[in-house]
Amino acid sequence: MLWNKGFKCTAVVRRLIPWVLMTNIMLVLYCLKTTNHVNIRPTQEETCPLSMAKTNHAILSESSKPKQKCSPKVNIMFMKTHKTASSTILNILFRFGEKHKLKFALPDRRNDFCYPQPFLRFQVKDYKPGQCFNIVCNHMRFNHQEVAKLLPPDAVYVTILRDPVDLFESAFHYYHRAVPLTWGISGKNKLTEFLNNPEAFYSPEAFNSFYLKNLLFFDFGFNNNLGVNDPRIMEAIHSLSQRFHLVLIAEYFEESLILLKDLLCWSMEDILYFKLNARRTSSVNHLDPEMRVKALQWNWADWKLYEHFNATFWQKVEAYGRERMEQDVKELRRRNAEMRAICVDGGDAVEAQKIKDTCFRPWQPVGEKSIMGYNLRKDIDPKWKTICGKMLTPEIQYLSDMGVNLWVTRLWGWLKDSIF
Ligand SMILES: *[C@@H]1O[C@H](CO)[C@@H](O)[C@H](O)[C@H]1NC(C)=O
Repeated sequence: MLWNKGFKCTAVVRRLIPWVLMTNIMLVLYCLKTTNHVNIRPTQEETCPLSMAKTNHAILSESSKPKQKCSPKVNIMFMKTHKTASSTILNILFRFGEKHKLKFALPDRRNDFCYPQPFLRFQVKDYKPGQCFNIVCNHMRFNHQEVAKLLPPDAVYVTILRDPVDLFESAFHYYHRAVPLTWGISGKNKLTEFLNNPEAFYSPEAFNSFYLKNLLFFDFGFNNNLGVNDPRIMEAIHSLSQRFHLVLIAEYFEESLILLKDLLCWSMEDILYFKLNARRTSSVNHLDPEMRVKALQWNWADWKLYEHFNATFWQKVEAYGRERMEQDVKELRRRNAEMRAICVDGGDAVEAQKIKDTCFRPWQPVGEKSIMGYNLRKDIDPKWKTICGKMLTPEIQYLSDMGVNLWVTRLWGWLKDSIF
């Protein structure tokens, strides 16, 4: 279909195709292997005892201030969605977990749980039946039944959404080279070309097609190809509203963190952050109003999802108190700026080529260097060095520091960087 649409097979593209396919096939085979392995095991019962959660509460309450009314929550499911500022939240969770010696359910050999396969608990690194964890937070295709078996029943479920039009634009930019459906799109602006007639390029069965349509819906484990009037869209949204205690909104990131802090009974220090995995603005393709409407219609299920949780988000802000929220956001900004001055060379993010230490270089999309990162201040006070280093460490390096052997991810990274 798309191959005969005036597709010009340039030398680069020709070289690129077998490599991309080979690596992807390798990733899929690797995951199928783990999946088969699962099926032959006896099914093991089932949710985690609350006792484990209690031990950790005990550890925590020793260190928390006596006047606090609540004790910090330590059992957390963070559903990490794609292209939603979720990497920044991940860094916050990693730091909190490390500080309190919590047990993470980590992926094995790669930085996700065999995405886009649905999550299975046997994908967790060194998993043994009956094992329990405090935090699950890496990329997965959500599968509640399996997640629930890893966490105590009091676990708090949190996720983050972003305006689906911006998310679509971002995912298109980040993944288009990994989606063969887009390779045949001609013209200078592939995104506009696609949105003008998506049906001409899109096919639900095609490899990696989910990156192009309702990616949020797909991440949550639902069918991302439901039609506009399909009642299953609202059913899916309803089921998520039953599962998740808090749905953050990327456009209101600071307010989101304040609500998170409140829900988890954490301190302001716990939610300080530097924006990680952000794209340089010059590579962001702002859609005009006409294209926005098209993108919105194309991602209808995600739109309904976002609309619903944006409304509940603001109800929560209202309940928290608008004024109180404003004060807290101001305080968070002040503390973040303080940390930036302490930690970051030049006080701001820089382009990938300007990041000197490989520890702080973020993962880049195929064939690009558009993701920004940071340099640690050279004259940094030793007492801040560790915390600053952790705050600036991108996801892949952080996972590696936590003992995940990322050979599959690294091999893919090496192929990507040496070929494109
Ligand atoms: C989200 O909610 C806020 C506050 O009600 C509103 O101003 C904004 O337009 C909403 N966004 C969308 C996309 O619905």
